[in-house]
Formats: sequence, structure tokens, C-alpha cells
Amino acid sequence: MNDEPIIPDPPHPGYAAASRRGTPFATADGRALFLRPIRPDDVDALRRGFARLTPEQVRLRVFHRMNDLSPEVAERLCNVDQAVGAAFVATDADGEIRGEARMYVEPAAERAEFALVVDPALVGIGVGHALMLRLLAEARRRGLSELWGSVLTENATMLDFASRLGAEREAIPAEPDLVRVRFDLRDGRRED
Ligand SMILES: CC(C)(COP(=O)(O)OP(=O)(O)OC[C@H]1O[C@@H](n2cnc3c(N)ncnc32)[C@H](O)[C@@H]1OP(=O)(O)O)[C@@H](O)C(=O)NCCC(=O)NCCS
Repeated sequence: MNDEPIIPDPPHPGYAAASRRGTPFATADGRALFLRPIRPDDVDALRRGFARLTPEQVRLRVFHRMNDLSPEVAERLCNVDQAVGAAFVATDADGEIRGEARMYVEPAAERAEFALVVDPALVGIGVGHALMLRLLAEARRRGLSELWGSVLTENATMLDFASRLGAEREAIPAEPDLVRVRFDLRDGRRED
């Protein structure tokens, strides 16, 4: 006779906390970070993360100057309507947001626009890479055919970063200051 208990063991008590924290990943310099969808209770952390960005990073991300992230805007950014978008954050062991990436699906299209930014103290160690792979996976999961972003022509770091992940570049005829980077999601290419 089988002595297996009929009622399975309850999940490990740490399980809920761990999944709330997100998926762990290691940066190139050995830091342990976590990757997860943004949440409504991230408003204050998102505002602190924004305050750490350099003015130049803000300009490269939103194409204009912006001194702070208002509570209202942060609230909106943390409450993503999953029907039309998705956003992910990379957090450190203290729960501070060290990188953020999001996409918005174009209405009636199989495409989404994306953008991302990484804490200036943590650039160049794979945080953007991890966030971008997460976004690409989400776009594929939704059956989208393309993920695209507008990048300032001068933003060589982002253009190189996207190219190395497999994106193509397209000029935008009416906007010489901008380049469109496109990930074609139908070609079966792997990004990792
Ligand atoms: C562009 C930006 C998001 C890149 O983020 P990042 O975290 O510095 O990027 P990564 O560290 O993942 O990648 C940069 C390089 O670091 C290196 N790297 C270091 N550790 C790595 C790791 N563990 N895994 C992958 N790459 C790693 C790689 O050489 C990588 O080069 P690659 O492009 O060949 O992969 C960041 O510079 C930024 O926030 N810029 C300002 C905002 C901006 O321009 N946003 C774009 C608007 S769409």
C-alpha cells in the first residue's frame, strides 16, 4: 500500500516572499539582483530610482528634460494596464529599483514600443540586458511580431546594445535625430 500523504506539504514559507521579490539574477560584477513585474506599491521606489538618474540619462530616455517624477505619473507607471502594456523592474537586495523597462502595445497592431533605463551606478554590468530579454520574452509570449523603440541618433550606447541583441536599425525620414530599433520576433532568433 502507498503511504504517501494525501495532503501535499504546504509550500515552503519563504516561497511567497521569494516570488514577490522576483527572479534572481547575477550581474557581471557578482551583485544579486531580482527581476519582476512592476507593482502598484513601487511608486516611492520608482520615484527614488528616477531621482538617481543623471539629467543626461533622463534626456536619453524621455527625449526632454524632466526634473522629477511626480507622484501622479509614478502612480500611473506602476499601475500598468496589462491589456496594453507590461513593465519590469530590476531591484537590489534592499528592494531599490535599479532598472526599469516597459512596452506599450499599439492598438490594433501586433507591435509594441519599448524603452528602458538603468541606474547610473549599475550600467555596463548586464542589468539592461536582463531587462531587455525579459521584455522580449513577454512580447513573444503575447504573440507580438515586433518590439521597437525610438532612440536618439546620438545614443550610441543604446544603439550598440540593441544591435548586439539582434535589433535592426531604421532611419525615420521626418526625424533625423531619432533612429528606430526593431526586434523582429517572427524569425525564431534567440537573444541569449
Ligand atoms: C542603454 C542602457 C539601458 C543599457 O543598460 P546597461 O545595463 O548598461 O546594459 P548592459 O550592461 O546589459 O549591456 C551593456 C554591456 O555590458 C556588458 N555586460 C556586462 N555584464 C553583462 C552581463 N552579465 N550580461 C550581459 N552583458 C553584460 C556587455 O558588454 C554589454 O554589452 P552588449 O551590448 O554586448 O551586451 C543604459 O545605458 C541606460 O540606462 N541608458 C540611458 C537611458 C537610455 O538610453 N535608454 C534607451 C531609450 S530606449
